[in-house]
Amino acid sequence: MQIATARLLLREFVADDWRAVHAYQSDPRYLRFYEWSHRTEQDVRAFVGMFIGWQNETPRQKFQLAATFQNHLIGNCGVRIKNLETHEAEIGYELNPDFWGNGYATEAARAMLAFGFRDLNLRRVTAMCVAENHASARVLEKLGLVCEIGAPKREWFKNRWWDTLRYAISNEEWSDANRTA
Ligand SMILES: CC(C)(COP(=O)(O)OP(=O)(O)OC[C@H]1O[C@@H](n2cnc3c(N)ncnc32)[C@H](O)[C@@H]1OP(=O)(O)O)[C@@H](O)C(=O)NCCC(=O)NCCS
Repeated sequence: MQIATARLLLREFVADDWRAVHAYQSDPRYLRFYEWSHRTEQDVRAFVGMFIGWQNETPRQKFQLAATFQNHLIGNCGVRIKNLETHEAEIGYELNPDFWGNGYATEAARAMLAFGFRDLNLRRVTAMCVAENHASARVLEKLGLVCEIGAPKREWFKNRWWDTLRYAISNEEWSDANRTA
């Protein structure tokens, strides 16, 4: 599958994408809020391989697409169903730091959210981010998600505790916010 937004093409991952992913996942700006301190070729090949594996699920529950700008892979964005019975999914995204601050993450995630609510019939979408990851929290707020839980000292990595925030949006809230006249 693929989704075109105003400036991006969201498309399925292919194995050779590991090179572009490895380049940005090695950037300290990217690594700041992850448990990883560096990424090997093997790590990133496995990471991309996991997304490719999801393409063959039946029924498919996880959609993590490569975000490309002018044919260059600049990140990824996806919705992953966590509970088929309750129609609940989580959303996640990441971008090459050289492309931050242009609204691309919001643009990609907005399209994935629409796909989730319209095509996958989702009822609720959640996301979790480190509380200090203000850019990610802002993306979620721009998408209309609301912070429902703040968990102090929820994650331990890089030798310290990190607070996390959980955001959520229901299908009703999403429909109300995206109703076209
Ligand atoms: C989170 C991430 C995807 C955002 O990508 P992006 O394309 O720069 O996001 P957007 O441009 O769509 O929106 C970013 C918003 O955060 C704001 N922002 C950025 N840095 C900020 C900071 N330090 N404090 C407060 N707001 C900040 C921007 O101003 C913008 O808001 P605005 O449109 O109201 O001005 C990117 O920073 C990233 O890839 N980080 C590493 C991976 C990651 O953290 N993924 C999410 C895991 S939960």
